[in-house]
Amino acid sequence: MKKISKRASRRPLIVRELPALRRAVAAWRAREGKIALVPTMGALHEGHLSLVRIAQQRAERVIVSIFVNPTQFAPNEDLAIYPRTFAADTEALAKLKVDLVWAPTAETMYPAGFAARIVPGGAAVAGLEDAVRPQFFAGVATVVAKLLIQCEPDIALFGEKDYQQLKVVTRLAADLGLKTQIVGAPIVRERDGLALSSRNRYLLLSERLTAPALYRVLKECASAIGAGEPVATVLEKGRKTIAGAGFHLDYLEARHADTLAPLTGRGDEPIRLLVAARLGNTRLIDNVPV
Ligand code: PAJ
Repeated sequence: MKKISKRASRRPLIVRELPALRRAVAAWRAREGKIALVPTMGALHEGHLSLVRIAQQRAERVIVSIFVNPTQFAPNEDLAIYPRTFAADTEALAKLKVDLVWAPTAETMYPAGFAARIVPGGAAVAGLEDAVRPQFFAGVATVVAKLLIQCEPDIALFGEKDYQQLKVVTRLAADLGLKTQIVGAPIVRERDGLALSSRNRYLLLSERLTAPALYRVLKECASAIGAGEPVATVLEKGRKTIAGAGFHLDYLEARHADTLAPLTGRGDEPIRLLVAARLGNTRLIDNVPV
């Protein structure tokens, strides 16, 4: 593919209003190749930056959106204290030579009188994250639809870290007939296996030492199921181990890797193991293939 010379300044353009976003996207669309979008809520870490790097390999222009979306937080969740590190985020994105940071205000995303809402079904009602956070996927689907419509990307990158979200968004883009191809990206982990997350910074030192147990149990369960042990028995043992390590378990489930539906028991399906558990005040999620 044709190599496009990047903007000389190397700093990403920081855009907060729709008309300026539309101008930039229209100019690229007229003259240049593919546009990629990486949606985030900021507090960027290596997991987010890995999505940016994949985007850069697959598109000529990369937009990173930073918007802490209030509608996907329940009233009892951490919206008010969600980490906001905009200066450090734009610094990291400048180093990667990202083209544009789309950082809309809440008023731009949700103007007074805002009344539209996308309420997804399918994977969004699989009884996983949705069972614990009933409003979450309507909040995510609505904001992601808006971001895809605003930025008109050819591709958009989502991490497998939020596996149910990836499945919901993939279905959403197809159902709405959007031209954007949704691309999933592998989970980036700490050396001890803990999946990177903006919320890991909430962990107390003792909790941080316990946290990698989640991934260890997932891997043990995956290899036991892969070796032919009965799924229900493996999961029961896994749940006990997680609770024994000091977590409050929300779920540990084996699901069809694409639909997230419960397994039929025929033994011919691709399987994904998904877990969510709390350590003190911090909620961790993770998943692995079998
Ligand atoms: P956020 O939690 O900021 O995550 C942004 C993207 O980074 C998501 O696609 C997520 O799966 C990915 N990500 C997070 N940790 C990762 C890791 N360790 N490895 C690989 N990818 C990782 O997810 C959201 O924001 C929001 O729900 C959003 C989609 C932006 C809508 O508001």
